[in-house]
Amino acid sequence: MTVRCDRLLLDCTLATLSGDSGYGLVEHAAIGWRGGTIVFAGPMRELPAEPEAFALASESVHGALVTPGLVDCHTHLVFGGERADEFEQRLEGASYEAIARAGGGILSTVRATRAASEARLLEQSLPRAQALLRDGVTTVEVKSGYGLNLETEMKMLRVARRIGRTLGISVRTTFLGLHALPPEFADRRADFVAAASDEWLPAVAGGRLADAVDAFCEGIAFTPEEARRFFESARGLGLPVKLHADQLSNLGGAALAAAFDGLSADHLEWTDEAGVEAMARAGSVAVLLPGSFYALRETRSPPIAGFREHGVPMAVATDLNPGTSPLRSLRLAMNMACTLFGLTPEEALRGATANAARALGLGDRGVLAQGRRADLVVWHARRPAELAYWIGDTLAARVFAGGAELPA
Ligand code: NIG
Ligand code: FE
Repeated sequence: MTVRCDRLLLDCTLATLSGDSGYGLVEHAAIGWRGGTIVFAGPMRELPAEPEAFALASESVHGALVTPGLVDCHTHLVFGGERADEFEQRLEGASYEAIARAGGGILSTVRATRAASEARLLEQSLPRAQALLRDGVTTVEVKSGYGLNLETEMKMLRVARRIGRTLGISVRTTFLGLHALPPEFADRRADFVAAASDEWLPAVAGGRLADAVDAFCEGIAFTPEEARRFFESARGLGLPVKLHADQLSNLGGAALAAAFDGLSADHLEWTDEAGVEAMARAGSVAVLLPGSFYALRETRSPPIAGFREHGVPMAVATDLNPGTSPLRSLRLAMNMACTLFGLTPEEALRGATANAARALGLGDRGVLAQGRRADLVVWHARRPAELAYWIGDTLAARVFAGGAELPA
């Protein structure tokens, strides 16, 4: 019996990313889908029927590279205002930590985010998601964490979900309950951690506003014990965890995330061998964020060789945020992961597709294969390495999400 597709692209250079390594390259390939699901991805000669009989609409892409839709698995793209003033201060020698301790940093964005109406927050945040989409991102994770009270955290998460509906892309939301200590809880750390863990988290979960939780475990943020308390509450509610771990110092964050079977631990510049091994055992993904490494002019790279040796899957994300990574291009993050951390272009592409999907707990995307979501990108490129190679501007020619072509 002939399976019919709604759409069929012919003469593709497919990078399927299926299998554990390699691009999964198929030349002279076709990809077809029905509804939102791929029904064929393989060599044209293996098509079960003539294109006209097999698909309602078929067209050649003349050898263009086709990949899974990119997945940006770590962003903070919903926020009010910007922090270009801190960029200037850092260029004059102030450190990120010093700015944060003086009440700037995350707390300055908290003030702007609390002050913004929901409509204004959407208006400010939408172009950032649009920029990612324009260069091939069809799934984006968005964290809260600039509210630090229930009302504003929920406002951020609602805006994130609305961005997905408005643009036609998938948005996964993460409740970043422990990001910074807000002024009204100064000297009341334990009360803040209790409120975030026992009141706000259940409310967010009850409103079905979060797919996962996250915390910032760092000297200038929260201790491993505080993060553990928060994670225990998440576990009780059945929400998976992610962690900002070992970015500026080694507090054992990678091992902590692994102890909770974390979907991922993110940043990881200071992660040691024990942390890498714990992640390998737990199957947690190492999310690399070269944008913040670059913007903060960090010098210590995450333990890439250790991740490879122990088989820890690596993902690459923008960390798009107003302080440490005002980076609106996942492809540029891929380029930086190669240039700054030594990833291969193949690891970078897997890190922005298959492994990024895994860091979000999404088994239905990130590779091009029968039965997976029809999220795919046709590129102005022929070789997969070009995606990490070209710097600046966009390279995506056409973007399909859930089978629908999105306006450029
Ligand atoms: O991922 N590390 C904590 N959160 C962000 C920075 C947030 C900010 O400075 O606004 C990050 O780097
Ligand atoms: Fe982050």
